[in-house]
Amino acid sequence: MIHGHITGWVLALILFVVALFLIKGGKAKGAKIVQMILRVLYLVIIATGVMMLTQVFKIDFQYILKAVVGLWVIGLFEMILSRVINNRKTSVFWIQFVIALALVLYLGFSLPMSFMNP
Ligand code: HEM
Repeated sequence: MIHGHITGWVLALILFVVALFLIKGGKAKGAKIVQMILRVLYLVIIATGVMMLTQVFKIDFQYILKAVVGLWVIGLFEMILSRVINNRKTSVFWIQFVIALALVLYLGFSLPMSFMNP
């Protein structure tokens, strides 16, 4: 489960960057396809995340925060892409993105199921 989760968000990060380059390069059609794949990955990330939550004996604040910040990162993927497509300002969202991504990685890797906690 955890591997599916990690594969999901690593692929999502890569495809997010690919989509940004495609949009910037004027390849709207390619970007649209990558965005569709990204949306499937969101479902994979959320489904594996929720499944892991169901295996947790006691869901404490750190788990709730991990899930909420994870959803926040996914929301920011969508916000940033749609604003780049519409040529709108993205700086506020990029700041949030850096903070939320750092936080979700920190929380994920410090929670007990992480491979960083043998
Ligand atoms: C882009 C969004 C997300 C990222 C980057 C992310 C990242 C991570 C990372 C790095 C880990 C630790 C993996 C390991 O070291 O083995 C993890 C674990 C986990 N994630 Fe996520 N995650 C995201 C979204 C979510 C969502 C939306 C949920 C819940 C609905 C969720 C729930 C969990 C749970 C329950 C764990 C296991 C925690 C434990 O060790 O007990 N994640 N995630």
